Amino acid sequence: MEMPDLVTDLTAPYGPLAYFLDLHPDLGDFRADVITGLSAKQKTLSPKYFYNEHGSKLFQKITTLKQYYPTLTEKELFLANADSIIEAIGPGAAIFEYGSGASEKIEWLLNGLNNPVAYVAMDISKDHLIESASAIANNSTLPVAAVCADFHAPVTLPENILPTEKHWLGFFPGSTIGNMAPEAAATFLKRSSETLGAGAKFLLGVDLEKDPDVLNAAYNDREGVTAAFNLNLLERMKNELGADLNIDDFEHHAFYCEKGRRIEMHLRAKRATEIMVNEQTFSFEEGETLHTENSHKYSVPRLEKLFAQTPWRLEKMWTDPKGWFAACLLSNT
Ligand code: TRP
Repeated sequence: MEMPDLVTDLTAPYGPLAYFLDLHPDLGDFRADVITGLSAKQKTLSPKYFYNEHGSKLFQKITTLKQYYPTLTEKELFLANADSIIEAIGPGAAIFEYGSGASEKIEWLLNGLNNPVAYVAMDISKDHLIESASAIANNSTLPVAAVCADFHAPVTLPENILPTEKHWLGFFPGSTIGNMAPEAAATFLKRSSETLGAGAKFLLGVDLEKDPDVLNAAYNDREGVTAAFNLNLLERMKNELGADLNIDDFEHHAFYCEKGRRIEMHLRAKRATEIMVNEQTFSFEEGETLHTENSHKYSVPRLEKLFAQTPWRLEKMWTDPKGWFAACLLSNT
């Protein structure tokens, strides 16, 4: 993997930002990935294609649904334990947020922390990132910076731009780590320990195993927002690739797989049908699926196993009264 060229890819300052580092993340080739994915025995497509403008709006809406308990549970968990989390993080933290998106979750942390020294937002979507990081910079006396990167790739941070008296605090809420397979989650955590260095800490939000009925309901909301979010992939194929397909032939299919300890999200053919793209025809039998995402759920022992494969040590863990969600503070010592 190539190291970023910090001289050419770094702009400092950048508007209200202390710096902007563009690592030119691989945005993927939608057409090529659709064709490869539809050619596989189990048809599949990367979840990164969910997040066009419409998809991002639908996702935002999912996080406000009552049935989708993770967002609310995580927020309540963070707020109920704010004092103890903030004490464990300690003063002088420079926060590095992975996949900051609309940068909404960072606010309580920035407001609550004892003497934070900087905030660096990282996201794959450049315009959205610059916009939301700039808004935070304009409302804060802290140095705020932005890094455009993919959290699946290694990241090296520039030195000497932010205060030197600091320790990094990685921040990765929303159980986004659950969207990676456990081996990929271990790789991600190892890489983050290299990015953030010795003495760093990491605050991670993880969704826990629970009654499958609760899990199934969360990914099959009554309003059909999650279904629309999933079906948006077919809209994108039609609009952006000129694919010939009948959206009505497909339905959202999400279920908890006990063996894999994960929610699987698929688009399922309601009847035998075809998707035509690039003059190639991909046939679906009735009931055949296109696999679009996984969301892994962890037990505390399996989380401990995951951390044991990385340089991170679990310093402290907080859970909500129902034991549905965990906030983990890791340290790289
Ligand atoms: N990481 C969260 C989860 O797996 C949020 C999320 C990602 C999500 N993709 C999703 C939620 C698709 C609903 C549907 O729960």
